Amino acid sequence: MWAELLPVGRSSASGGYRRYAWTGADADCRTWFREQAGARGLAYETDRNGNQWAWLGDPAAGNAVVTGSHLDSVPDGGAFDGPLGVVSAFAALDELRGRGARLTRPLGIVNFGDEEGARFGLACVGSRLTSGALTTEQAHRLTDADGITLPQAMERAGHDPDSVGPDPERLARIGAFVELHVEQGRALDLSGDRIGIASAIWPHGRWRFDFHGEANHAGTTRLADRHDPMPSYAETVLAARREAELAGAVATFGKVAVEPNGVNAIPSLVRGWLDARAADQESLDGVVAGVEKAARGYAAAHGVDLDVECESFTPVVDFDHTLRDELARILGSEADLRVPVLGTGAGHDAGILSGSIPTAMLFVRNPTGVSHSPAEYAAEDDCVAGVRALADVLEGLART
Ligand code: GLV
Ligand code: MN
Ligand code: MN
Repeated sequence: MWAELLPVGRSSASGGYRRYAWTGADADCRTWFREQAGARGLAYETDRNGNQWAWLGDPAAGNAVVTGSHLDSVPDGGAFDGPLGVVSAFAALDELRGRGARLTRPLGIVNFGDEEGARFGLACVGSRLTSGALTTEQAHRLTDADGITLPQAMERAGHDPDSVGPDPERLARIGAFVELHVEQGRALDLSGDRIGIASAIWPHGRWRFDFHGEANHAGTTRLADRHDPMPSYAETVLAARREAELAGAVATFGKVAVEPNGVNAIPSLVRGWLDARAADQESLDGVVAGVEKAARGYAAAHGVDLDVECESFTPVVDFDHTLRDELARILGSEADLRVPVLGTGAGHDAGILSGSIPTAMLFVRNPTGVSHSPAEYAAEDDCVAGVRALADVLEGLART
């Protein structure tokens, strides 16, 4: 499975993945998922929001146990963020069949669409739509960098955009969702453990900062006459770093767009996206307010206008304690496996769904902690331990 997925959407220039929602690479990932379901004799369906499902047993029976993750990527992402959870889901099912496990609850495998939000700017679109955290109208307004709307992109990929919207009946059939994911930090490496259980996800969001200036000649416009948005933007990047350091939070400007983007032209617009995350809401609010206040000061000093807009926000996620304890109990019976409970600053579909259904996450050790980069990695024996742990969890849950 891993070998088949590896070339899909991989850039030969960077070695990273460019699997963006509703593109050709995304379609190839979806074909792969459907084939994996077919090869195992699972019932396959794509839901109204473009999420893919594979079923062992009849989901209509209810109280289903579901596992899976996503196959899309950030720009030049790694191979593991997302796909490890989907590949491990199929592998865990194979393991359960090999063990002759008798399951009394339906078992589902899911590939959530557009988890990273690389193309339309909003993360977890598939799970947000399904849970109602994103409305049909909001989704229809999403646009990519080329001005293609989400409905247009869906239509071109053969998905009916008018079908998108909340899907409470589907969620009501699910008794537990467990997402396995590569760890995106070094906690397991430092503690010397292969597998962890998630405790919580930091509150996080994305804010767009538009610095509007005045385009002019780079050679002939006196510094005093300029309305150059770039210096205010640059100072704001540094302010974000400072605010995050003071609050024990993280803040990142990882994406910037400049108009007209000419070497010898003062920009008319610098648009930067702030990604900010903190352990608690109060700290996060403080960081974002601090960055905005600083940015307004810099903009005023440079004669530049500033608009700030929150494009998405995900409140703190505290994963279901009962399910988390159940995972710890199931995995705790393996004498050689110690399973620490970890928090994370990364967003996941499991976090979005945690407001609607009991969800839990398993993390697989990442020896460098690097993620959202082609260098992202997990050792094969740790991945195999992840599959075994997931199989144990699914068996433990689906037998009860
Ligand atoms: C998704 O991986 C995110 O945390 O942004
Ligand atoms: Mn990610
Ligand atoms: Mn992910």
